[in-house]
Amino acid sequence: MDKFVIQGGNRLKGDIYVSGAKNSVVALLPATLLLDVPCIIENVPDISDVKICLTILEELGATVEKLREGTYRISTVDVTSTEVPAELARKMRASYYFLGALLGRSHRAVAAMPGGCNLGERPIDQHLLAFESLGAETMLIKKIDNDGTAYIDAVELKAETLYGSTVSLNVVSVGATMNAILAAVKADGTTVIENCAREPHIVDLANFLNYMGAHISGAGTHKIIVEGVQKLIGNDALEGSVEERTYAVVPDQIEAGTFMVAAAATRGDVLIHGVIPHHMKDIAERLVECGVTVEEVESDDEVCIRVSVSENRRLRPTNIKTEPYPGFPTDMQPQMAALLCIVDGQSNISEQVWEDRFRYVAELRLMGAQINTTHDGAIIFGVPGLHGAKVKACDLRAGAAMIIAGLAADGTTEITDIHHIERGYSNIVEKLRGIGADMKRISED
Ligand code: EPU
Repeated sequence: MDKFVIQGGNRLKGDIYVSGAKNSVVALLPATLLLDVPCIIENVPDISDVKICLTILEELGATVEKLREGTYRISTVDVTSTEVPAELARKMRASYYFLGALLGRSHRAVAAMPGGCNLGERPIDQHLLAFESLGAETMLIKKIDNDGTAYIDAVELKAETLYGSTVSLNVVSVGATMNAILAAVKADGTTVIENCAREPHIVDLANFLNYMGAHISGAGTHKIIVEGVQKLIGNDALEGSVEERTYAVVPDQIEAGTFMVAAAATRGDVLIHGVIPHHMKDIAERLVECGVTVEEVESDDEVCIRVSVSENRRLRPTNIKTEPYPGFPTDMQPQMAALLCIVDGQSNISEQVWEDRFRYVAELRLMGAQINTTHDGAIIFGVPGLHGAKVKACDLRAGAAMIIAGLAADGTTEITDIHHIERGYSNIVEKLRGIGADMKRISED
């Protein structure tokens, strides 16, 4: 089994670069199915979820060319299939974006229920509500498991025509907001999506589609308006031309936040490049409450974030409540918890998005953390330090928390189940080694 081995105790120091956002690129790649011309996407992170998305595109009939590291030319003009291969759909959560994109493109889509991190119940009722609001018919394909219990195995969507309409989401959902946009972009008429999520990746999807000719306004607010268009060809002047549009994926807010917390936990001094500072506001505020110095610094015409803590400084506790953007991101909750294990005093975490995002607590306890969990939260009693241990990455962000804990701990930490981490962090070992981490990846068959 592959694992990361970390020798803790090094202060992280130096420059680190953020990759393109996982939760954006996993929507942009399916969105290429809506285009009537090829396009080039840059700043694509080297993560396994991207590999799965690209394989799905190819299986559907798209042409994917890697032009250089992180840059792909994608042509979906010859795609005829409307069925996402089931094994691939089950490998990641974001495969549900192929439902919206294929429905928008071909008025038919079939996909197995998505996989991804186990964070408790992960329904897709709001996605289906969006599709149905636009006139699609939903069929849930059921199967019986070994215990005789019926479960939903796959979803089939069909529509004669998709009509612009009002989509009133009952829950603020990133995925349902993205899927509503994907299905509405080429619908007949105007769609109003209410109670939208506002995450940076939603704005990125809208920017990408608008750049290719869509008419989407309001992304980043609670109400998004999509005026349906017939074609997405970059712009009218480009029709018939060989010129292709190039779009760069937005920087990953959560990867940047993970580096910020890793710098703080190791009492380091790290300059984070390729970050959008206003995306990091809430994370930065919590770190500052702990006594960490967080500054915006200009470096080579770019605004970076510098995170530093003097070597022997003890940090203070803080309280966290996860919320949809612009609140504190649930995807930073485990990493922040790892830091709060080693501050002076008691911190409280309230998890408001996922019902089961504390499975990492048992692993942190193996390293000496003192944490009590409640039905939707955790109380962390800071200890002077953690010690290395053999732990596992229960899911993607839980794995990031284990890395942070391992970097800050005394001794050696071995992290197994690292495939979860590699779903979402591009070249994590090389990047952290570049700022002084003693960390290696060991492959064992
Ligand atoms: N929800 C419903 N019905 C739905 C959809 C969601 O009740 O149809 C509920 C969920 O159960 C949850 C809440 O709404 O309680 C929010 O879920 P959301 O739909 O926003 O989550 P998601 O789109 O499935 C994305 C990210 C997650 C991230 C959440 C919240 C992707 C591929 N995944 O998931 O990322 O935690 O938004 O920000 O974009 C991660 O990167 O580690 C990760 C889990």
